[in-house]
Amino acid sequence: MRNRIIEQTSTLVRVFAPAKINLFLAITGKRDDGYHQLTSLMAKLSLGDILEVRRTGKESGIQLACPGYPELENPQNLVFRATGKWFESTGESWGVELSLKKQIPSMAGLGGGSSDAVSTLIALNELGDSQLPQSELVQLSTEIGSDCPSFFGDGLCVAEGRGESIRPVAPSVYQSLFGQKVLLFRPNIGFSTAEVYQNLAKYKKYSIDVWANKRINLWEHGELSTIELLHNDLEYPVFSKHLYYRVLFQQIERQFGLVPKMSGSGSTCFILIPEGFEQVALLKELLFNSFGDDCWVNDTEIIP
Ligand code: C5P
Repeated sequence: MRNRIIEQTSTLVRVFAPAKINLFLAITGKRDDGYHQLTSLMAKLSLGDILEVRRTGKESGIQLACPGYPELENPQNLVFRATGKWFESTGESWGVELSLKKQIPSMAGLGGGSSDAVSTLIALNELGDSQLPQSELVQLSTEIGSDCPSFFGDGLCVAEGRGESIRPVAPSVYQSLFGQKVLLFRPNIGFSTAEVYQNLAKYKKYSIDVWANKRINLWEHGELSTIELLHNDLEYPVFSKHLYYRVLFQQIERQFGLVPKMSGSGSTCFILIPEGFEQVALLKELLFNSFGDDCWVNDTEIIP
């Protein structure tokens, strides 16, 4: 597991909670448990939230502060749920103050809530009198969100099952993406993951799992470039409803020769910026002109 702890004392742990993008996301069918089966290549970003977990001297009580985002300071927040689950599993009880500095937008397809939840479990495990083994932490996290387990792993990983089954990628390709510049952009709108999956189920536009595994395999063997690999089956249900995405994507491809993709269930999209690309300012101008002045744009990069 990659250590993302920034600072640690006996009563305080500060953790970096990175965002992710899905470089490849194939949905290969609906399962009997209501979830969808997927194959995905996920990459962590230098964009991330900072979570501070403080063990108070009190016997119980969970407090959450989310500076600038009062709407996130409620028991539905995944850091709250993660805390509840960790206490339940260990049988411990003590007062805890959580402070979450948000950088990752919510309902954005960047895994912010899941990453925060995993950071919470990691921090509590450091501060607790008892420690859960890593395998149990990962298991706990699957009960919070399908993509939580991926945040225990390295920067790049392949997710399968409903997203919870994780494996690392071949070291050669892993190295090649470290430091890759990524431009994120997002219209001022958020999507519910459940709703996007429901819409996909209506259209039944699934990929074949053999095809999906072969694409990743070819990429891992250097026979497919990362640009050629880019794919997201959740674009179809989103773009069928929000027509402006397709128009903008076509314009970006035509004008700049770049390949934009949506991450996860949206609404954030990303562009891998090639080395030496000198038209970033012009590209951003197009993004703001198309999605409006309240479009969120962020320069970030893939981290190990
Ligand atoms: O697992 P998570 O809570 O992040 O998923 C949110 C919703 O997205 C699920 O309740 C489900 O409706 C949908 N989903 C799915 N298949 C997946 C992951 C999520 O249908 N593999």
